[in-house]
Amino acid sequence: MLKDILILGIESSCDETAAAVVRNGREVLSNIISSQVPLHTIYGGVVPEIASRKHVEKVIPVIREALQEAGVTLQDIDAVAVTYGPGLVGALLVGVSAAKGLAYAAKKPLVGVHHIEGHVAANYLEHPDLTPPFGCLVVSGGHTHLVEVEDYGKFSMIGRTRDDAAGEAFDKVARAIGLGYPGGPKIDRKAKEGNPLAIPFPKASVDGAFYDFSFSGLKSAVLNYLNHAKMQGLSVNDADLAASFQKAVVDVLTEKSAALIRERGYRRFAAAGGVASNSALRESLKTACEKEGAAFYAPSPIFCTDNAAMIACAGYYEYIAGARADLALNAVPNLKLGER
Ligand code: KG4
Ligand code: ZN
Repeated sequence: MLKDILILGIESSCDETAAAVVRNGREVLSNIISSQVPLHTIYGGVVPEIASRKHVEKVIPVIREALQEAGVTLQDIDAVAVTYGPGLVGALLVGVSAAKGLAYAAKKPLVGVHHIEGHVAANYLEHPDLTPPFGCLVVSGGHTHLVEVEDYGKFSMIGRTRDDAAGEAFDKVARAIGLGYPGGPKIDRKAKEGNPLAIPFPKASVDGAFYDFSFSGLKSAVLNYLNHAKMQGLSVNDADLAASFQKAVVDVLTEKSAALIRERGYRRFAAAGGVASNSALRESLKTACEKEGAAFYAPSPIFCTDNAAMIACAGYYEYIAGARADLALNAVPNLKLGER
């Protein structure tokens, strides 16, 4: 019987301070998330300086709670894994500094984790049968990627957004119709009351790069629709608008995912990132995967949005592959996927 490997994960790249303990990469022993959403809501978005200060306040209590809930001490931990990019530099630095301090004090190995690698790894937490290779749609506040997960921590990029990320489009449209921040979950809820066929918004594609995405045209179309209605003195049905906008995003994401599954013959396809918690997207991808004969995977919503269990999971696979960071580990705000 092999010894269990316990990883302490730490995440602070944006507006959640999170820590988690995961056993053998797949079993979540604790998953503590301190969300700053109420703090940023009044500003309509994340204020980086406020985020950093709040992370400083929360990071140690959150780590302590994660260890406590898992019923372990720092000495029981095999390695500390931390998100070191991409993200807000001041926010990342808090998690990285805390992880370095703990690793140094407890004489534990340190592993740097790419945030997006974490989002993809969230799928392993609840799906023991899921192993690479598989295709994956990563949709978060800052990223929209179609990737092939060749192996743990090894990706090949197939498509990416040329402008706004899917989550960013959700957030901007929500703000425009006065739903506030964070926009994604609010549009998701509002859309349930609306008619997705009410307003035919454009489904943008990128010339010559089928698997790339572009959401800025769709965002402008929504803003134009709102301005036009305002100038004409017409009332706007927010629920219809939310449902129609969401359908435009979901249709594009699904069409390209389905085409990729068909082209590459994937038997397994996963979704990852905050937008993967969108109910319409999950339903649509599930149906498309069934049609293409691929099994569909998505993390539970709590593991889709930022959390540290996904970082501990990705960190585990990095750790067993021999990856180690030293105390020179720094925050890399624009870290590319696959870079070390
Ligand atoms: O992955 P995540 O928590 O943070 C980043 O790494 O960016 O993603 C946050 C994004 C935000 O843009 C948020 O509006 C979006 O995910 N989001 C959603 C939903 N829940 C979160 N978008 C659509 N529908 C949702 N239910
Ligand atoms: Zn994220």
